[in-house]
Amino acid sequence: MELINKKILVTGGAGFIGSHLVDKLVDQENQVIVVDNLVSGKMEFLQESQEKIEMVKADLQNADTLLPILEGCDAVFHLAANPQVKITDDETRLHIDSNIILTYHVLEAMRKKSVKDIIFASTSTVYGEPNVVPTPEDYGPLIPISLYGASKLACEALISAYCYSYGMHSVIYRFANVIGSRSTHGVIYDFVNKLRATPNSMEILGREPGTRKSYIHISDCVGAMIHGYEHSKEKVGIYNIGTEDYTDVKTIADIVCRSMELEDVDYKWTGGVDDGRGWKGDVRIMLLVIEGIKALGWKPKHKSDKAVELTARELVKG
Ligand SMILES: NC(=O)c1ccc[n+]([C@@H]2O[C@H](COP(=O)([O-])OP(=O)(O)OC[C@H]3O[C@@H](n4cnc5c(N)ncnc54)[C@H](O)[C@@H]3O)[C@@H](O)[C@H]2O)c1
Repeated sequence: MELINKKILVTGGAGFIGSHLVDKLVDQENQVIVVDNLVSGKMEFLQESQEKIEMVKADLQNADTLLPILEGCDAVFHLAANPQVKITDDETRLHIDSNIILTYHVLEAMRKKSVKDIIFASTSTVYGEPNVVPTPEDYGPLIPISLYGASKLACEALISAYCYSYGMHSVIYRFANVIGSRSTHGVIYDFVNKLRATPNSMEILGREPGTRKSYIHISDCVGAMIHGYEHSKEKVGIYNIGTEDYTDVKTIADIVCRSMELEDVDYKWTGGVDDGRGWKGDVRIMLLVIEGIKALGWKPKHKSDKAVELTARELVKG
């Protein structure tokens, strides 16, 4: 379905990815409703579009939140979630509630209101540590190593079951690391903040040169989300979204330092946990096969290092 002049609901639309998506949907003359409890999202992220959207500040933990809002919607982009992979030992319920239960509430409301299309922000962490890299969408078995990855895989399963049981359609995106302006978590965001506090030295989680992962710029990510939905013909379409290369944490640190015009910064590697990873559940190598979305006519404009450079500049500028 072409995303022009449609009524679209975006959960988590005040967040990092959500707000960029909202800007693009508004640009394409869609009527956009954002539902967000602003736990990590911010109204200022919606500055560009706020006069053209309907903003509903509400918590999706409440099962009935969406029922009155969904009336007449053509599709739901479901992004509201807790996106943190790194959690403490007393936070094991976090992703069950914020991701799995939330997604169940969204699907139930859609079923009751006969809204048929859901586009879901999943993650490469559903693959765990695959022994095929780059990893294609049909890789299996999927053995996540973080509760975040496990919760997103459970969400994918729920979405698939609703599609087959209730005549719905879905597009599920397994994102690499998404980076860019308005991000409020992740390695580049952390580095910029640490270097602002102490420009001479920086603690880096893990063992040099750190994990190697694909990083996709937000402009590419949003383009892929819209293009994929407009062109996917599957009942449950699953697409990896990333770049075709990866970069390591040391290179990212160097790029961020250059962007902040800092020289000779003393990197203090912590050594990490479980054989050098940054934290429990951190995947060491992540690179995705993106032939599926390329076959629909989309490819990324920026490689990983370029995406990191753009993001560092955007975050430094504030
Ligand atoms: N950023 C990445 O690298 C990345 C990678 C893979 C997948 N994702 C997924 O993409 C989506 C967006 O991630 P993001 O990086 O923009 O994170 P984000 O934290 O900026 O966005 C999440 C949004 O959901 C809202 N939200 C959370 N719980 C809510 C609730 N109970 N009710 C209403 N709103 C709620 C938050 O306020 C926030 O605006 C998430 O589902 C995340 O898991 C992100």
